Amino acid sequence: MDLTNRISGYHLVEQLYCGSRTLVYRAIREIDRLPVVIKLLNRDYPSFSELLQFRNQYTIAKNLRLPGVVEPYNLESYRHSYALVMEDFGGISLRDYAQEASLNLTEILAIALQITDILQGLYRHRVIHKDIKPANVLIHPDTKQIKLIDFSIASLLPRETQEIQNPNVLEGTLAYISPEQTGRMNRGIDYRTDFYSLGVTFYELLTGKLPFECDDPDGVGSLPYCQTTSFNKQQRNPAGGFGYCHEADGKKCRKTLSKCIRIEARFRKVFAAVPRNWKN
Ligand SMILES: Nc1ncnc2c1ncn2[C@@H]1O[C@H](COP(=O)(O)OP(=O)(O)OP(=O)(O)O)[C@@H](O)[C@H]1O
Ligand SMILES: [Mg+2]
Repeated sequence: MDLTNRISGYHLVEQLYCGSRTLVYRAIREIDRLPVVIKLLNRDYPSFSELLQFRNQYTIAKNLRLPGVVEPYNLESYRHSYALVMEDFGGISLRDYAQEASLNLTEILAIALQITDILQGLYRHRVIHKDIKPANVLIHPDTKQIKLIDFSIASLLPRETQEIQNPNVLEGTLAYISPEQTGRMNRGIDYRTDFYSLGVTFYELLTGKLPFECDDPDGVGSLPYCQTTSFNKQQRNPAGGFGYCHEADGKKCRKTLSKCIRIEARFRKVFAAVPRNWKN
C-alpha cells in the first residue's frame, strides 16, 4: 500500500507490523501530540466482510472500557477503507517479547494472571475474544503491564444466550482455536473457547512450543489436532475425512476444555505458592 498520501491529522513515526492483511504504525496525533497506534487494512480495495470485521474490532473494544484492553480512540475513513486509531501504551506483542527475552516461570505466571483477569472483565461484558494468542496480547517491556488487542472476530453475546453458533467460515488462528470454534463439532461457542486458546498460549510460553504441530500456525493450513487429514473445502462435511470428529477425539477435546476452565484457579494457587524471593 502506498502511504505517500499521509493519514490526515497524524504523523507516522514507525511501522510496527506488516502482515498479509494489516499494517500497523506508531504515530503522533498532530492536534495534541498524543502518541497513537494506527491499524490499516493492507489492500487498497478491501472486501465488504473485511470492512465489517475491521469495524467490529472498533465497536466491541470501544464499549468495553477496561484497563486491560487497548482503547480504540476512533475509526476514521481512509481512502476506500478505515484507519483504526488506538492507544499507544508502549506495548509490544507478547509473541515478540517472548522471542527476545527468555521468560522465567515467575514472569510467565504474572503474565498469565493478568490475562486471566482481563478475560474475566470481558466475560462480565459478555464478550468472547475468539483470537487469544501471544500476537494479540501486548506487554509493556518495563512495567510488564498486559493489554489485549485485535477484537476483529470477537462476539458480543446477546443477553438471553450463553453461546453463539459456529460461524460458516473458519475464523481465528488454527494453532490456537478450540475444537468447537473450527465448526467441526456440533456445539455452539461460549466463553470457554478463549480458555482453550489461553491454554495453548500458556503452553507455548512455558515450553516454547505449540501443543499441537501445525504446518501453518498463523494461517489456514491443516487443523492442528487433526492427525489424519488436512483442511480443504471438500472436507467440510464432518462425516468426511475429519478424524478429529471421531467420538474418541470429541471426548479428548471436552476433557481438554474442562482442564482449561480450571486454569485460572490453578495459576492463582501456583503463584501464591511461589516463594516471595522468586517474585522479585
Ligand atoms: N496498540 C498497539 N500497540 C503496539 N503494537 C500493536 C498495537 N496494535 C497492534 N500492534 C502490533 O501489530 C500486530 C498486529 O495487530 P493486530 O493483531 O491488531 O492485527 P492483525 O492480527 O493483522 O489483525 P486481524 O486479525 O484484524 O487481521 C500485533 O501483533 C502487534 O505486534
Ligand atoms: Mg492479531
